[in-house]
Amino acid sequence: MAIDPAVIETLRKQPDMPELDLSWLTTEGPPAVNAKPGRHGLTLDDINIGVYGDAPEVARHGTTRVRGSIARPGVIRTGYYVPEKSDIWADNATLIYEEALQRQWSSATDIPWESIEPLPDEVEEAICQICTFLTEVEFIAGDAPGQWLKQISPDHFEVALYLVTQVMDEARHLDVFRKRALANGCGLLEATGATRGLRNILDAKDFTEMSALMHVLAEGFVQTMFRTGEFIAQNEAEKMIFRLCAQDESRHVGFGVMHLRYVLQHAPERREEIHHYLDRAEQLFGHPSDANSGLQEALLITMGGGKDNIDKGAEMALALTKKQANEYMHRLEVAGLADRRYRMNPGFMMLLDPPKKR
Ligand SMILES: [Fe+2]
Ligand SMILES: [Fe+2]
Repeated sequence: MAIDPAVIETLRKQPDMPELDLSWLTTEGPPAVNAKPGRHGLTLDDINIGVYGDAPEVARHGTTRVRGSIARPGVIRTGYYVPEKSDIWADNATLIYEEALQRQWSSATDIPWESIEPLPDEVEEAICQICTFLTEVEFIAGDAPGQWLKQISPDHFEVALYLVTQVMDEARHLDVFRKRALANGCGLLEATGATRGLRNILDAKDFTEMSALMHVLAEGFVQTMFRTGEFIAQNEAEKMIFRLCAQDESRHVGFGVMHLRYVLQHAPERREEIHHYLDRAEQLFGHPSDANSGLQEALLITMGGGKDNIDKGAEMALALTKKQANEYMHRLEVAGLADRRYRMNPGFMMLLDPPKKR
């Protein structure tokens, strides 16, 4: 079908140049900034200047407007659900975000996998039982903060950036323990099933509740275990896995401690509420139905160096549990919750060393 020549003629014509509006070229914008890189390059702290660095106590607008930009009337709301800064903030979020970016590692190439050699059957199976448990735990450690990502306002974006790095870290932890389980002839063993303690973290209705339960309590316990991982590890690959994971966990625990500290300083009326969350979490962590005998026995075998050395393994496992309880108490003290010592779950309280004299 022939095309009407008039239509072709119209298409060939140069479009009229639109009149420029230029109303966005305002002289009333935010003050000029000239951020300069510091010792560690151009960090988030270096660009947190004036209005750009001024994270409001309450994020009111509910739109995608980024902090420091000029508000535009008539913009639709996208909905953010944690308006109060004190409900989500931690002063170290920028620092640990930058550190996380610089310290990413690869489970494929940064672990000396070739150092793994055949192990006695029961030791290999014990390692694989621990890896099965950790793969499961790390999955939840990524899911829990991930649920909160969409609820952070762009006014408090630093927290969202930090949470993204945690999700990435946990993805790597999940995959590195899965890889180890599949690398030496055994594979994954018995699933623990999401225990009551872990389910409690996923069910948290409040960010501070989630953070206290996950960052301060659960990941704190995992971090202590990773830091003593050289007693569980049977070769250089496993030592490196625990070392690198412990390094990542320090950031997650550090965020939680500093968030709790911020809440207690800026919303002191929440103290009793936080105790309530911890009362429940500590009780669930010590719940008999959460005790995984396979995992406990696997720790005794790896720490003892075989099933003929269970006594030594039991001694070391008790020392680990004691260390976990004391380091948990220390984190609470740093956060400003030293009174937790006198109302902690008895199962943990009995493991605490006497308070240090100041
Ligand atoms: Fe992790
Ligand atoms: Fe973690």
